[in-house]
Amino acid sequence: LQASIGDTCPRLRLSGVRGAAGDPSGVGIVSGEQSRIVVVNDDATQLRLVSALLETEGHQVTPYLDSEEALRALQGAPPPELVVLDLHMPGIDGWRFCRLLRSPDYEAYNRTPVLVVSATFTGTDVEAVTAELGANAFLPVPFSPETLRRYVTELLAGRRPSATLSVLVVDDERAIRELLRRVFSSHGYRVEVASTGVEGRSLARRMRPDILVVDHHLPDIPGDSLLSSLKRPGEAMVGILMTGDSDPGLALTALRKGADAYVRKPFDPSYLVDVAQKARRERSLLRVEEILESRTRELRSSESRYRSLFATIPEPILVLDESGRILQSNQVAERLLGLKAPDLFGTRFRSLVSPARVPDLERGLGQCWADGSGEFETTLVARDGTSWEGEVTARVVDFQGGKALLTVSRDVTERRQAERERERLAARAQHAQKLESLGVLAGGIAHDFNNLLVGILGNASFALMDLTEDHPAWESVKQVEVAARRAAELTSQILTYSGRAQVSMRPVDIATLIREMGQLLEPAVSRKALLRYELAPGLPAVLADPGQLRQVVMNLVMNASDALEGERGSIEVRTSLSALDSERLRAAVVGQDLPEGHYVVVQVTDTGGGMDAETLRKIFDPFFTTKFTGRGLGLAAVMGIVRSHGGGIMAESEPGRGSSFSILLPPSSHPVPHAGPEAPAPLSADGVWKPSGTVLVVDEEAAVRSVARATLERVGFRVLECEDGREAVRLFQLHRLEMVAVLVDLSMPELSGEEVLLSIRSVDPGIRVILSSGFRGDEMEERLMQGGADALLWKPYGSEELLSTLHRLITSRQGRDRTREGSVA
Ligand SMILES: Nc1ncnc2c1ncn2[C@@H]1O[C@H](COP(=O)(O)OP(=O)(O)OP(=O)(O)O)[C@@H](O)[C@H]1O
Ligand SMILES: [Mg+2]
Repeated sequence: LQASIGDTCPRLRLSGVRGAAGDPSGVGIVSGEQSRIVVVNDDATQLRLVSALLETEGHQVTPYLDSEEALRALQGAPPPELVVLDLHMPGIDGWRFCRLLRSPDYEAYNRTPVLVVSATFTGTDVEAVTAELGANAFLPVPFSPETLRRYVTELLAGRRPSATLSVLVVDDERAIRELLRRVFSSHGYRVEVASTGVEGRSLARRMRPDILVVDHHLPDIPGDSLLSSLKRPGEAMVGILMTGDSDPGLALTALRKGADAYVRKPFDPSYLVDVAQKARRERSLLRVEEILESRTRELRSSESRYRSLFATIPEPILVLDESGRILQSNQVAERLLGLKAPDLFGTRFRSLVSPARVPDLERGLGQCWADGSGEFETTLVARDGTSWEGEVTARVVDFQGGKALLTVSRDVTERRQAERERERLAARAQHAQKLESLGVLAGGIAHDFNNLLVGILGNASFALMDLTEDHPAWESVKQVEVAARRAAELTSQILTYSGRAQVSMRPVDIATLIREMGQLLEPAVSRKALLRYELAPGLPAVLADPGQLRQVVMNLVMNASDALEGERGSIEVRTSLSALDSERLRAAVVGQDLPEGHYVVVQVTDTGGGMDAETLRKIFDPFFTTKFTGRGLGLAAVMGIVRSHGGGIMAESEPGRGSSFSILLPPSSHPVPHAGPEAPAPLSADGVWKPSGTVLVVDEEAAVRSVARATLERVGFRVLECEDGREAVRLFQLHRLEMVAVLVDLSMPELSGEEVLLSIRSVDPGIRVILSSGFRGDEMEERLMQGGADALLWKPYGSEELLSTLHRLITSRQGRDRTREGSVA
């Protein structure tokens, strides 16, 4: 139907619009004679095509896809002029539909003409089917648009359209041709005749006869070959072979070649008409069977296609009923869940997901049922306990005569893991950035702060030199000095945290370092705390700044002691050499990216109150504290130090179960240094030293300059001071002969300390230069020493420090070779 209507539709539409004029079939209706036609067909394409065709003819068409709906709509409504019905429909089919229309329930429709169309009964005894249906006409599919129009027009005009069957007789004997023409015509057939095979073939191709009667002995083509070449499979045409031969084998050959019947000459012509009619009836029965068979084959192959698709889709598929029970599963689902189909069937989906995700799952499934489709995530658990993250896509489908939910649970475990890892890295980068900017900020403040502290500390020291201990102001000034020193300590911790602390790395034996700290730690911890050491012998050395390492141990032990909150408890300091794999390292607070391998570990464990996860997450943030007196810089400094040592930190704690901090340090290949106290730095000026000469003090800060001046003048130096580099160079040139040393701050406007150093060295290469700076650090130290400074002073420095440095430089004979004379210009 689709093909025959599709081919001619455009032309039909035009002629329909224009009316019947020029219609070659001559049976078009007159435009304007509009009839109401109801079309019922469960095939949407057929429905659309038939309706469109009738509308083109000017009719008012009401189409229905569903026969029950059509019947409901018809009840009580004025009857249409025509009903066009499909025979095969689900629910109420054409047979039942017709019977209802002819029943007393639909009295108004009893006389409404009904045209039944069907693909199944092609070529059958149309009259019989029509009568049995109670229909007015029956039109086998496929039909041409012209035929449909003719039928409709006839029915609307109150006539019964009938299909005139056509017969083609091919025989070289004229008498037989004419005899058959007469007999078939008298039975209402349209008859054409041909005398040769070639003529018969071309005529048959043109007219497509319903019945083809062929003589076996044609002059050009054997009759059976002509028959078999004209018969197309599945076509309604009936072929009959006539022969005068008495060979019984011929009948068999003929039938095998496609003849539907076989008559032996001479025969009664009416017998041939009977044979033809019988053959047609048989053919239509055969055709129904053929259709059934081909439909069954199609169904089977589509089912097997679906089966293999279902089985081979590489995603786990489960079909669920409304209570969430499994109706069907595919192999992937069975493999991933570790269950075979029979065990899976009837199991609830919820029993396959991790208990924590059940509420999510119920919600997700409910939503899919309500919306017809949807997506959600869940965690599926296989029989062996392994689990995977499933991204479930679900859709409501028709399944085994009811509704079911088809679910595909794609394994997205790896994708989710990668996402989480990305988020973790992003969070870490953000945290690192935060710490970095805090460091820059803190470092900047510490710099200015240090300059102020030089003033405070220096002035306090002077005042104390002038006062005797029994002076009423002595204690207050002493307190100023103490406070200023604490402040200096704090700045130094901030600088440590910001990574700008001065460090001097050397191989350190960690056990010795901790043992020597004993006297320092004992008095510092709470009296009720039991401090224990477990120091593994023979550990490799680590490359570290001993002062900073002491600070790390001190801060951890102090925290442990605080955690005991004055109660009885123990603090254990343990050292070891431990092998750490990347999984353990990933748990580190600092150093997740450290390479796998051996690390020297310093572990401080306490039996104190411990921390919850929330606190544990924040403890390394600068200024995070839970203590009344705490500053929250202890662990921040530990973090800064460990970072600058290329090490790692692990922290473990639980509320009520104490805490444990482990510092991981990469072992160094240097030999373990001999134990022994570090050489103390030379301290104050001795009695013999008689300072003289001029010292140039260059610093932007007036407070710093005035403290330095007072300190130096007090012991006998003459002091020249200035606040910028250019002035410094000028003053130096003016007074170079009396100059014994220059104290320059590193950061100044115009000329930096390093540039001043270069300029004055070019005037006097032997002049002793002390550079001072508020920024500490290994790198800085190296840079300054390479730049040619004789000594460095880190701000804030006290008077004693300044004097001892000068004393060391001036009295040191190994110092710089003075070539003052040689350099005088
Ligand atoms: N061993 C521990 N047991 C329990 N809580 C601890 C422990 N160590 C650190 N904390 C928690 O971490 C916080 C931060 O420690 P941190 O050493 O940085 O600062 P603080 O001790 O509070 O102050 P300070 O700057 O004086 O060291 C503490 O306030 C405390 O809440
Ligand atoms: Mg602390």
